[in-house]
Amino acid sequence: MPASHSQLAANQLPSPFPEGWYFVATRADIPRGGLFRKVWMGEDIIVWCDDQGTVCVAESHCPHLGSDLGPEAGGSVRDGRLVCPFHGYQFDAVGQCVATPYADPPRTAHLQVFPTQEINGLIFAWYGIDGRTPQWELHPDRPTREGWSSPSIRTIRFPGHPQETTENSVDLAHFRYVHGYGSFQRAGRIQVDGARLVSSFDFRTVRKVFGFSAFTMDLSAITQIFGLGYSFVEIREHFIGVDLRLWVLATPVDGTLIDLTLVSQVREIRNPGRRIVGLGFLPVGWRAPIFNKFMAAQQMGDVLQDVAIWSRKQYRSRPRLCRSDGEIMPFRAYCAQFYPEAGDRSGAPSAGSHRTVP
Ligand code: FES
Ligand SMILES: [Fe+2]
Repeated sequence: MPASHSQLAANQLPSPFPEGWYFVATRADIPRGGLFRKVWMGEDIIVWCDDQGTVCVAESHCPHLGSDLGPEAGGSVRDGRLVCPFHGYQFDAVGQCVATPYADPPRTAHLQVFPTQEINGLIFAWYGIDGRTPQWELHPDRPTREGWSSPSIRTIRFPGHPQETTENSVDLAHFRYVHGYGSFQRAGRIQVDGARLVSSFDFRTVRKVFGFSAFTMDLSAITQIFGLGYSFVEIREHFIGVDLRLWVLATPVDGTLIDLTLVSQVREIRNPGRRIVGLGFLPVGWRAPIFNKFMAAQQMGDVLQDVAIWSRKQYRSRPRLCRSDGEIMPFRAYCAQFYPEAGDRSGAPSAGSHRTVP
């Protein structure tokens, strides 16, 4: 029997674009004077950087007569300003038109700019429903770079929704069933504090090193979720004594596809366990990068197992859960804040701002 309208509506998430901070690019992707355009959160945006290193994420069409500002149309960055290819209006990094080639710049010529912040070389921009200004902070206790390997960064694109991918962290049953983790145990209940959700668990997994030697990893993980675009996982491997960290960044593209970016790092390894083949013989400076490559490949393998499910699944607003399913419904209650109702939507359209934590 075909599903009724009310059944279909009940099985849809409120929006493909929940409010929050979403990954745009790495700092390395945007050199000074660099410029590119992309589709992000259903918006055509341009991303560019002025001479001071300030990154600007803005709408991609000019407020004068609507030219595309991207490089394909001839848009460029000159002397630290974004220059429109059509009549030469120039914009600063907060989106204000500061010069034209033939008259005073109109004060009302202003690009819509998305506020940005930077964490560990990753640039995020705020997507506010109806142009709301940022309602919460992304990760106030910032991870620093010191003592960590250079990041391994990979992005995959598939049909999906950031709430569905983020729900993975609280979906206990799937860890065993999809990923084969053993001895899976929650280390306390999830904690919600405004836009932050913390979930902790311990588990065991058997991995092969370079295809031949299997070893068992005993892991503890703490996941901090800040909205549906940003999950930060800190992992301690107890047997070898390695600290890992992983960002899982889900970014809606066009309402159907999402980009999932994985960023992983390993802390410098001083005393590797002997069962890691060859790791103890490597110079200290090589261990973390090599182990990071290994772990990044493992993480991507895990995510591809999830993608096979995510890209084909339907949302169930009233899932028929069993006792061991974990905290799916408290997680969904937490998610509701990222779909503000019309009555909650106060806040002026965003003005540009950028925070940097190297
Ligand atoms: S359309 Fe951009 S300067 Fe005219
Ligand atoms: Fe998973």
